[in-house]
Amino acid sequence: MTIQGSSQILGVFGDPVNHSLSPIMHAYFAEETGCDTVYVPFHVRGEDLSQALAALPALSIRGVNLTVPHKEAAMSFLDGLEPAARSIGAVNTVSNEGGRLVGDNTDARGFLADLWAHFPDRLSEGTPTLVIGAGGAARAIVYALNQAGIPDIWVANRNQDKASHLVAEFCPGTGSSLGLEGNALASAAGEAGLIINTTSLGLHGESIPGLDLAVAGPQTAVYDLIYNPAETPLLREARSRGLARANGLGMLVRQGAESYRIWTGQMPTVDSVIEAFKEQIT
Ligand code: ATR
Repeated sequence: MTIQGSSQILGVFGDPVNHSLSPIMHAYFAEETGCDTVYVPFHVRGEDLSQALAALPALSIRGVNLTVPHKEAAMSFLDGLEPAARSIGAVNTVSNEGGRLVGDNTDARGFLADLWAHFPDRLSEGTPTLVIGAGGAARAIVYALNQAGIPDIWVANRNQDKASHLVAEFCPGTGSSLGLEGNALASAAGEAGLIINTTSLGLHGESIPGLDLAVAGPQTAVYDLIYNPAETPLLREARSRGLARANGLGMLVRQGAESYRIWTGQMPTVDSVIEAFKEQIT
C-alpha cells in the first residue's frame, strides 16, 4: 500500500484500538477494488469522541468505523442517522458527506449477507430462529432477522426481561422471549431451523447453559457471532452432531465491506480476507 497525496483517509476510532483487524481488512479491500484509500487506527478516548468526530470534516477524512466504547455515544454527535443505526441504537460507520456526518450500522447487513453465504435456504424458507442473548450484539441480529422476514424469532436470555424488551421493540408480532434454562429453551432449540449465539459465552470455553443440541433436528444450522476462538463449545457440539455451522468471521468482514461500500461506492469481494483471517485465528 502506498499513501499518496490523493489518498482518501478512512479509519477506526476505539479505546482500545490496537487489536482491531479493520486496518488489515481495509488494506485488502483497497487492493481488491483498486481504490486509493488508507485506513488508520485512531486511539480515541471516550471524553475526546465529540472532538474527534468534529475534526473529520476539517481533516477531510472520508469516514471512520466506531468500535468499543463509542458505538452508542457517537449518536448524539452526528448530523444524521440512517434507519439501521437509529433502530439498532448504535453506529459503527460514520460517513463524512461533504461536511455532514451521517451514522450507519452495517452489522445487520453484514450478518444477513453472511447468513446468505452459509445457509441460503434457512433465510429463503423463513425458518424459525432461536437467538441466544439480548445485549448490544443481539439488537443488530434481531433487527436483521425481522428485516429478513423471519416469521418466528425466539430470544433466550439469562435475564428474560431484557429478552422481552428486545422482542417488544423489534418483533412484537413474531417474536417471543424465554429464559436460558428450562423446557422452553429445549423446545425452541428442537423447533428452530437456525440457532444463533450473540452472547460472550464461548469466548473462554464456556458452554451455553440449558442449550443441548441433542434436541436439534438434522437440518438445524448453528451460527456463533464469536470468531476468536474459531470454534466455541457450541460450534464444536454442532460439528460433532453433523449440523451446518458458521462462526462470526464472515459477518465481521462483510460488515467491513459494507462500510467500505458506503465510503467509496465500491463493494469489495470478501473471500480472500476471510481466508487470510482464518489462517491467523485457530
Ligand atoms: P454485547 O454488546 O457483546 O452484546 P452486552 O450488551 O453486555 O454485550 O450483552 C451480553 C450478553 O451476553 C447478554 O445477553 C448477557 O446476558 P444478560 O443480559 O442476562 O446479562 C449474556 N451473557 C454474558 N455473560 C453471560 C453468562 N455468564 N451467562 C449467561 N449469559 C451471559
